[in-house]
Amino acid sequence: MQLSANKTKRYVHIQTFGCQMNVNDTDRILQVLAPLDYVMTDDPAQASLILLNTCSVRDRAEQKMMSQLGRLAPLKEHNDELVLGVAGCVAQQEGAELLKKVPYLDLVFGPDHIAELPSLLARVAGSEKRVAETELYKRKGYQFVEAEPLPAVDGHAQKVSEFVTIMKGCDKVCTYCIVPFTRGREVSKPHEMVVREVSRLVEAGAREVTLLGQNVNSYGKDLVESSEARFARVPTFAQLLREVDAVPGLERVRFTTSHPMDAIDDLIACFGELRTLCEYFHLPVQSGSDSILEAMRRFYTVADYRDKIAKLRAQCPDLALSTDIIVGFPGETEADFEDSLKLLAEVAYDSIYAFKYSPRPGTKALALGDTVDEADKERRLDAVLKLQKDISRKKMLGYVGKQVEVLIEGPSTRTSKGQSSVVPLDAKPSFQLMGRTRTNVIVNVPVPLGDFWSKRWVGQLATVVIEEAKANSLFGRFA
Ligand code: 5AD
Ligand code: SF4
Repeated sequence: MQLSANKTKRYVHIQTFGCQMNVNDTDRILQVLAPLDYVMTDDPAQASLILLNTCSVRDRAEQKMMSQLGRLAPLKEHNDELVLGVAGCVAQQEGAELLKKVPYLDLVFGPDHIAELPSLLARVAGSEKRVAETELYKRKGYQFVEAEPLPAVDGHAQKVSEFVTIMKGCDKVCTYCIVPFTRGREVSKPHEMVVREVSRLVEAGAREVTLLGQNVNSYGKDLVESSEARFARVPTFAQLLREVDAVPGLERVRFTTSHPMDAIDDLIACFGELRTLCEYFHLPVQSGSDSILEAMRRFYTVADYRDKIAKLRAQCPDLALSTDIIVGFPGETEADFEDSLKLLAEVAYDSIYAFKYSPRPGTKALALGDTVDEADKERRLDAVLKLQKDISRKKMLGYVGKQVEVLIEGPSTRTSKGQSSVVPLDAKPSFQLMGRTRTNVIVNVPVPLGDFWSKRWVGQLATVVIEEAKANSLFGRFA
């Protein structure tokens, strides 16, 4: 059945869990659905297609998805036409089993199958009814969905800040991590495609791009190894950054995520040298104890990590740093944990993402058991967060009275958690604009007239005088 023959507008509702890679995958899903006349809706009751784009990096994210499915189930009873699907890492991990576990589910597809979504929907609409497609592509034959700017629908205007995936998968073997199983081997997107995507997004109005990959620093390694590319020029990640930096009209580049082992000198040299490269580096350390790092198979010591930080800071004194840290990895003693605290205090990151260890199916660490009590994990997490709160507070107060460059992304609203986020331009939610410093700190700028100021400032680089620091954001006025 050729679905695109039907020209009536229909609605798709997508809920996205997890990392930026999933946020970007959701955009690609919307992109492949656009020719089928699907329009995004925030209201699941209006939708004829509901997709949960899921994360399985920790058990809690998976449980969240299951309870969300339960909440959506009654919609199926009232709407025979409704197709309910699960995408992302839980889909990849569970495959057809998920169809067995959830009898009202119609579709399960892994991240490698986004491009095939139209044909998967045709199969659901046809005789198959319930479809699971989760085979992981080998390197050969993997096709990226080349990103196009999304059509501006229902007030969702072109974003000022966009993600561009530069590679998929991960070849590292961190013993706690499920990603190599859900996202497969590393495959790099050809650099011409990356530059084309960035150029197109900039032409459509983006001013900032974040280059995405599980470990962007190993960009290109698979291409160098592949026989087709033997005679082609394959840039390293640092060289790719230079190519992206040269795209006319682009103001800012960020990237995530990096493995410390691969953050090598040619990348460090880019900071302070490339005009667009923002002074912000997310460098996950995971633990401050050598024995835990070894058990995690991270392939660096705390001393190696410190060395990288020192080099980065020498190259770029204003660099903002963030990290990921896991507490309660199997075998983590109080002394190991104290070492993590010590490292956090010493590096004094601008922000951190801290997690309690969560055993994941298929990973090597599973064999080590889950030896740290939940109560101890909780206590260690609290201690980490408390330490970081004080450090972050000092960093935020350091901005007060300073002038900073802010890329204005749009009007801001305050969510229930007190965090700011961008909303569609026509939502008229408030009288403040939201943007970020080059160091990735959110800045709110109260303005007298919402619409007038939005039109004038969105997408602009503004000089803002910071007047107040809250826990997660700054407030200021245009200079
Ligand atoms: N348990 C807890 N945290 C994890 N992460 C990855 N796997 C696990 C796990 N099994 C964290 C790491 C990684 C971040 C994206 O999620 O810190 O950097
Ligand atoms: Fe997971 Fe390690 Fe790969 Fe990051 S580098 S995605 S933590 S396996």
